[in-house]
Amino acid sequence: MTSAVAFANGMARAVTRATNATQSTVQQGSRLVDNWAREVVDDIFGHALKKQTGVALKYMLDFGANPFERQLILSAQFLHKELPVRLAHRVAELENLPYGLSTKSSVLKVRDWYVESFKDLRGFGSLKDAVDEQKFTEMLRSIYRRHANVVPMMAKGVSELRRELSQQTLLTEIPEIHHFLDGFYLSRIGIRILIGQHIALHEPSKNNHIGLISTKCSPVQVAQDSINDARSICMREYGAAPEVTVYGDPNFTFPYVPSHLHHMVFELVKNSLRAVQDRFDGEDDMEPPPIRLVVAEGGEDVTIKVSDEGGGIPRSGMPRIWTYLYSTAKHSVAMESVEEAGEGPVVLAGYGYGLPISRLYARYFGGDLQIISMEGYGTDAYLHLNRLGNSQEPLP
Ligand SMILES: Nc1ncnc2c1ncn2[C@@H]1O[C@H](COP(=O)(O)OP(=O)(O)OP(=O)(O)O)[C@@H](O)[C@H]1O
Ligand SMILES: [Mg+2]
Repeated sequence: MTSAVAFANGMARAVTRATNATQSTVQQGSRLVDNWAREVVDDIFGHALKKQTGVALKYMLDFGANPFERQLILSAQFLHKELPVRLAHRVAELENLPYGLSTKSSVLKVRDWYVESFKDLRGFGSLKDAVDEQKFTEMLRSIYRRHANVVPMMAKGVSELRRELSQQTLLTEIPEIHHFLDGFYLSRIGIRILIGQHIALHEPSKNNHIGLISTKCSPVQVAQDSINDARSICMREYGAAPEVTVYGDPNFTFPYVPSHLHHMVFELVKNSLRAVQDRFDGEDDMEPPPIRLVVAEGGEDVTIKVSDEGGGIPRSGMPRIWTYLYSTAKHSVAMESVEEAGEGPVVLAGYGYGLPISRLYARYFGGDLQIISMEGYGTDAYLHLNRLGNSQEPLP
C-alpha cells in the first residue's frame, strides 16, 4: 500500500471513529472549512497527501559547515517546499482526532497556528537571491515564535478530554491518542530543528557550532548545567535539594544538540530529585542518598544513566509513566495557566510529559530512553544518545 493510500485510509478510519465517538460533542463551526477559505483547505489537504522528506542528520552537519550565500538559498528553498507538507500532515490529523479531541478549543488554537504558518509559507513568493532569503528567514523566525506554546496548549486539550472520560480510562487505553501525540510531538521536534538550524546559520557562528549542533558537546558539562537548573527548582519548592554526583570525563565531547541534551537530563534529574526528596523529607538525622549520574562513551552510543534511591515505581505503574499527562505530582499544574507558561515547565513535576517528550528527543536523533525501577529502592534511567552517525530523521 502506498503511503498516500495508507494515509487516506487512515484518515477515513479516523473520521468514522471520530464521528462515532463524538456525534454529540462536535461543535458547529469548528471544522477547517468553517474557518478558512476553501482554497486554503484544499491546498492543505493536497499537501497532506504528499510525502514528507527526511533529512539525514549527517547531511545537516556537512551542509551547515559552509553556510555560504548559495547554501542558505538552497536550504531556504528546501524549507519552502518541505515545511508546508509537514504542517499540512499535522493539520489533517488535528482535524480528525477521535473522542472529540479535535473540537477542544486549545486544540483548535494549535490547528490554527499550523494553518497560519502553512499560509505564510505558501504565500511567500519565489526564493531567488539573498534578499529573498533574508525575508524568508524573518518569516521563519515568526513561525518559530508562533509555535512556542504548542506542547502545553495540546496538553491542555488532552487533559480536558481526560477529565471528561471516566477516571479509569487512561491514555494507554486510548492508543490512537497516545500514538497521535507521539507522532505529533516528534514531528514538532523535526520542524523546529529544521527551522532552528536555518535561523542559527544566520547568527554569528559560535565556537564549535554548526547551527544548533555543537560539534564538541560535552555531556558532563551539559549535565552539570541541567543539574544546577533542576536543583534550584527543587530548592525553591522543598527548601532543600539532594546532591547529584557526576561520574564521567568532562573533556569527552561528541556532536550533539546541547539544548536537547539539556532538556532530557533536566527532566530525568528533576524526577529523581523529587522522588528522593519525597522519600527522605522529614528524616532530619539522615542526609538523602545522592543521585548518581554516569556518562559512558561507547563507539555507537553515548549513554547517560541517572540513578536514584527514591523508592522506585511499582511495576504495574510502568506503562503509565510513558503516557502524556500521567503524573503522581501532588499538585497537578493548572492547565489554565498554559497561555502564560511559555516553553518548558518551571515546576519540579506536574505536567506528566517529562518522560514521553524526553524519549522523543532521544529517538529523534536515533537514541532511546529506558527506565528500570526497583520498587522499594530506586530508579535507573538510561538515556542512549546515538553519535549522530547515519541515523535518518524519523517521520511520523
Ligand atoms: N525517578 C523516579 N522515581 C520515582 N518515580 C518516578 C521517577 N521518574 C518518574 N517517575 C514517575 O513517573 C511519572 C511521570 O513522570 P514524568 O516526568 O513524565 O511526569 P512528571 O514528573 O509527573 O511531570 P513533568 O511533566 O513535570 O515532568 C511521575 O509522576 C512519577 O510518578
Ligand atoms: Mg518529570
